[in-house]
Amino acid sequence: MSKNILVLPGDGIGQEIVTEAVKVLACLRDDYGLDIEMDEALIGGTAYDAAGHPLPEATLNLAREADAVLLGAVGGPKWEPLDISVRPEKGLLGIRKELGLFANLRPAILYPQLADASTLRPEVVSGLDIMIVRELTGGIYFGQPRGVRVLENGEKEGFNTLIYKESEVDRIVRVAMDIAMKRNKRVCSVDKANVLECTEMWREVAVKVGADYPEVELSHMYVDNAAMQLVRAPKQFDVMVTTNMFGDILSDCASMLTGSIGMLPSASLDENGKGMYEPIHGSAPDIAGQGVANPLATILSVAMMLRYSLDEDAMADRVEQAVNKTLDQGLRTPDIYSEGTRKVGTEAMGDAVVAALRAG
Ligand code: IPM
Ligand code: MG
Repeated sequence: MSKNILVLPGDGIGQEIVTEAVKVLACLRDDYGLDIEMDEALIGGTAYDAAGHPLPEATLNLAREADAVLLGAVGGPKWEPLDISVRPEKGLLGIRKELGLFANLRPAILYPQLADASTLRPEVVSGLDIMIVRELTGGIYFGQPRGVRVLENGEKEGFNTLIYKESEVDRIVRVAMDIAMKRNKRVCSVDKANVLECTEMWREVAVKVGADYPEVELSHMYVDNAAMQLVRAPKQFDVMVTTNMFGDILSDCASMLTGSIGMLPSASLDENGKGMYEPIHGSAPDIAGQGVANPLATILSVAMMLRYSLDEDAMADRVEQAVNKTLDQGLRTPDIYSEGTRKVGTEAMGDAVVAALRAG
């Protein structure tokens, strides 16, 4: 039976980059017999404009029925004045929560062709291959109570709650352990156990789960140190596992090691391996509509979808090889451009990947 993929371009450059990723999927379908059907729906600010909500019921229903979801990005200055409850970001957080996508995998891999594009020295980043496992449906992003209240003296006070159940920590650490078993068998759990009780408990649970994986070397690091180590000596890491907010911050940091945030894909998985796939970058309103955004993170997200949700490892390899070949050819969007390479736009980059895919 054919697999159903829901495509959610979203806002800003989301539209442009998803167009290129869809071309890749269409090529796999037409040339290599990938048995898929694609549907498209609205999310984010675009959805708010059309349907009055950043995550319309219709979109959520389609997402629930789909085998996998491909998302571009959400947000933009146009919607910033809106109440936080209907801002585009709420659409993204809502779909993650509603689909139970608690495990966010964010690989940071340095393509050797891009060693010069990193702001760090090549010897610090060459060969980099880190997997950041970010908890995605809990923590301070969703904790109650939250809000802004007015004190007796008229001053406002804002508050959010960092909260995790043992079971939530247990399942995300297990995901990290399982991934590590297929890699270099090292997991670094990142917390702030010296200050925050919640993450002190996180560490205790991580230790317990670790006992079930005697082959995996489990270490712990405070988040401030982890941020520093990521830019000082990033190759010390294999798999990192951490909370929703720490993972948000550390994955942006890790992305720059690879040259550009425009290169990093992600997978957000539920208990059964159903997933949503998206580049880790945002909607980049400053360059939206100019045709210069890097589509590779989204195309690489398609590769992750093939691997994690569609059980099509060989197809995933094809996509990753096509991206590699395109980089070998010297094609670069502005974010990864360096002297001696050829600067191209979003569409030309997507076309080149499809051509490389066709050539096999
Ligand atoms: C990400 C983004 C989102 C997040 C925003 C857009 C809500 O930064 O996916 O990393 O904070 O999770
Ligand atoms: Mg982020």
